[in-house]
Amino acid sequence: MELNRRTVIAGAAAAGIAATTLGGTAHATGGRKPVKTLFGKLADGTKVYSWSLENGGTRLKVLSWGGVVQSLEIPDRRGRYANVSAGFDNLEDYVAKTPYFGALIGRYGNRIGKGKFTLDGKNYQLSVNDGEQSLHGGTQGFDKRVWDVEPFVKGSDVGLHLYYTSVDGEMGYPGTLKTKVTYTLTRHGEWRIDYEATTDKATVVNLTSHVYFNLAGEGSGTIEDHELQIAASRYTPTDAGLIPTGELAKVAGTPFDFRKAKPIGRDIRVSHPQLVTAKGFDHNWVLDKGITARPEHVATLRDPSSGRTMKIATNEPGLQFYSGNFLDGTLTGPSGRTYRQGDALCLETQHFPDSPNKPKFPSTVLRPGQTYRTTTIHTFGC
Ligand code: GLA
Repeated sequence: MELNRRTVIAGAAAAGIAATTLGGTAHATGGRKPVKTLFGKLADGTKVYSWSLENGGTRLKVLSWGGVVQSLEIPDRRGRYANVSAGFDNLEDYVAKTPYFGALIGRYGNRIGKGKFTLDGKNYQLSVNDGEQSLHGGTQGFDKRVWDVEPFVKGSDVGLHLYYTSVDGEMGYPGTLKTKVTYTLTRHGEWRIDYEATTDKATVVNLTSHVYFNLAGEGSGTIEDHELQIAASRYTPTDAGLIPTGELAKVAGTPFDFRKAKPIGRDIRVSHPQLVTAKGFDHNWVLDKGITARPEHVATLRDPSSGRTMKIATNEPGLQFYSGNFLDGTLTGPSGRTYRQGDALCLETQHFPDSPNKPKFPSTVLRPGQTYRTTTIHTFGC
């Protein structure tokens, strides 16, 4: 903890945040303009910046590369801060070997079977990067792009607008897609993400955020003791390539039943064929509320040891819960500790995987003249 605290203060000093605001107030005063520092340079010399934001007791560091949340600090029940998101302390690792740590995902969150789909009678072949499938937008998805970042202070909110334009044909997708993502920290310390996109040709879009959470603190070990609740009576089982079969299966009586909060580790070793295939949880839950005009509460994550909680609200119809199954001890985080299987988890709000090939799933088609808009809100407590 001592080490953690010093790291936090050093980080805050570098970001120009007064060290006196540290050490326990969950409701520090907000309204300060985000601070920009150089994080690193890409091979072609492009500078990548880190933006530090703080409001309502939540601290966020965001990279212009991939819109990556490099650090998310929240207090525990005793006011002690920890970074609750997995990542790296240097750009080289993000470029060379990140499993989408903290990144914005586009054009399509999760998998499209064989990277193929047909829209208005035309066949499209996407970049394939996960066996036969296209995952998270292909080899050079939005997570591997430099975004234009514009800081703002608006009323009691502090945030960043991130812009990226994906050209017609990029990664095989039709249409020039103009994307704007807004990260906002509210005065209550909520972290809100607003996604917007427009296109000049019919296309498919499914944007999400790939933060790996560990509410006990990054580098502190397994998330199996975290309690998770998901307001979903059904999920989408997958085939061996993790592509949904199209079935909306009931969670009742299966390890996938998180309707009442339970520790993630409770059923993760049940020999259920779906858990065996995915090496744990890596599935899309069909949220009971469906698509809603406004974000509604869909999931709560709680770490009993620190008391930290996170609630997720969204207007999206699906939630991918991924229990960090592919983390294998080969990546080292900012704490200097490695990430092993289940050391962090993702809760990705989304439309369902492979929707472009599943006419019965809610549509991910975006047409010229329409604006894609979705919102996800993370509320922290302890
Ligand atoms: C997503 C997928 C997982 C895995 C991770 C990245 O969450 O659902 O299968 O690919 O991204 O490692």
